[in-house]
Amino acid sequence: MWTEEHRQWDTVDYSSLKDGSAFPKEFMWGVATASHQIEGGNTNNWSAFEPRSKSQQLSGDACDHWNRREEDVTLIKELGVSHYRFSIEWSRIEPQEGHYDSKAIQWYSDLVDELLIQGIQPMATLHHFTQPLWWDERGGFEKEENITGWVNFCSMMFEHLSDRVEWWCTINEPAVYATMGYVLGEFPPGVRSFKRVRKVSLNLMRAHARCYRTLKAMKNGDKCQIGLVKNINIFDPYRRWNPLHWMQAKILDGMFNQCWLKALRTGKFKPPSALFSKRIEGLRGSSDFIGVNYYTHLLTTPFMPTKVEIDPLIRPWEQRTDFRYPMYAEGLRRAFDMVTNLKIPILVTENGVADDDDDMRPEHIRRHLLITSEAIADGIDVRGFYHWSLMDNFEWAEGYDQRFGLYHVEFETQKRTLKESGHEYAAIVKAHTTPQLVIMAGGLGTRLGEMSEKTPKSLIEVNGKPMLHHILDWAKTQGCMNALVLTGHLGEQFEGITHPGMALTFHQEKEPLGTGGALWNAKELLEQRFLLVWGDDWHPIEYKPLIELHHSADAPLTMTVTQAHDSKNLRHENGRLMLYDKHSESSETLNGYEAGTSIVEKSTVLKYGHSGKWSWEETVYSALSGEAAVHLDDTAFWDMGTPERLALFEKFLKDTSV
Ligand code: GAL
Repeated sequence: MWTEEHRQWDTVDYSSLKDGSAFPKEFMWGVATASHQIEGGNTNNWSAFEPRSKSQQLSGDACDHWNRREEDVTLIKELGVSHYRFSIEWSRIEPQEGHYDSKAIQWYSDLVDELLIQGIQPMATLHHFTQPLWWDERGGFEKEENITGWVNFCSMMFEHLSDRVEWWCTINEPAVYATMGYVLGEFPPGVRSFKRVRKVSLNLMRAHARCYRTLKAMKNGDKCQIGLVKNINIFDPYRRWNPLHWMQAKILDGMFNQCWLKALRTGKFKPPSALFSKRIEGLRGSSDFIGVNYYTHLLTTPFMPTKVEIDPLIRPWEQRTDFRYPMYAEGLRRAFDMVTNLKIPILVTENGVADDDDDMRPEHIRRHLLITSEAIADGIDVRGFYHWSLMDNFEWAEGYDQRFGLYHVEFETQKRTLKESGHEYAAIVKAHTTPQLVIMAGGLGTRLGEMSEKTPKSLIEVNGKPMLHHILDWAKTQGCMNALVLTGHLGEQFEGITHPGMALTFHQEKEPLGTGGALWNAKELLEQRFLLVWGDDWHPIEYKPLIELHHSADAPLTMTVTQAHDSKNLRHENGRLMLYDKHSESSETLNGYEAGTSIVEKSTVLKYGHSGKWSWEETVYSALSGEAAVHLDDTAFWDMGTPERLALFEKFLKDTSV
């Protein structure tokens, strides 16, 4: 049947995580949270249940995220991730049936805007364990007729946010919600009833299907990605020679994993402990992606504890997390294998560990990311990874005792501090993220005649949009999330410019400073390593090979050189720049042309720069002869130096409909 892989982790090579070669450039790097666990001040089925919960701790102010949204968006930004998964608290949006709170809707809308401005893509979850009391008191998911109430809330949020939020999760972990609430009794309503768990399970899947179909039929529905989030728990027989242990593993796997996944595939659902399956309208194929939440495997015997308090069995070499279940990264691959027959993209919507002193989390992150990267290399379509969680928070029945955050939260003061593991995750993300893009956008088009004597060339429209947006669009395809635009001394003209999904920073000069002066003037805003392009050139090259070459050449600067250009301005040998000569008449000794996209170490700016007006190319390229690396790429670049060249570019764009 199935094999339980265990790896010798101390011999594993993690270098691909650090050198940026483990994941593709489009990989979605994220962190996740849920409303009730962080917002504070919620009134819902959970707040009502908390006094009776195992820990009896109240969520109370939680992380006070409701009042600290902007600060927390900064925390996300500082991790360098490109995606953020959060949930929308229905009890805030519709505190009483039919009464929608426009301020609460606005709060989430503002969150979305703040994320997008930072270049972070939002992912919204519509049900993450909590619901308003009025709906809960009416039987919640136990009654089929209640489903409409929830779907109405979903449509309301979709109407407000789907113009900006592309990724939507319908229901978080229906199997956990059902089992914890109705079998183990640890979540509200805290009962043990097989009859009720069957009903609830069925209605959760009905609700998911209806939500999916309803949203898909709405405006933006076809553009959005909507999916179910499934917690995959791996069940392994404790004694592999004992058929009873196998049987138990098979039964639990069937109830917790297989029946739900099969339902998505076939449209027929046989809920845990039910004898017959039911067809659910619209269920088949009702997920554009599958969200996988993965935490552990459980070793099965027929006498397994049905209480979370009792330590689960583990293998002798395994390490227990604070939750007492073991760290078992190999199981993430098995979780992927389990969902591949749905034939839809996979997202790890949650993975993380309860680890109070953070001595396990860095390794936990490395293992799970390595497993994910191997799955991708083997052809499994995993698109992204959201670490659970951004910060320590209210861990349901466990209260505040289990800490899952990349940021430590001191709940008395609400102080957030990045943990060692947070640095580790950020470093891996950074290694895989396209560096900051710096655009020299101040140049005036003096040779373009009247059209641009007073307009920076990058703002001149080419084929329907300003050059700047052509440049940003290309950079976005290369995984760039964040650009610094050096606007020259006429910077007011850039005011109000935004670009979807990209964080833009504009920096103006008081007086014309030349290319070098512009960079020096913005040195506080430069990242350690950045891509540099010209605001009047469109140079559609693949950034990845340039970045990789820069890494391996270990150079202060790596420039792209074309040998296909009609003139030449440099000489290169053995991958290094030997001579740069912008004004040379005789091109005999020259063998290449600087094509526009380079990658630069900030230290180079600091070393050769000074205040005042100076030319970057002439100063730095000359100083670096013999040192700067050369990346050969003959992709044509398009500029707008003269009206003729601009016309050629325009024609090219029209012909290729870029
Ligand atoms: C998941 C749940 C999260 C979080 C996590 C850690 O099941 O979706 O809300 O609590 O577990 O245990």
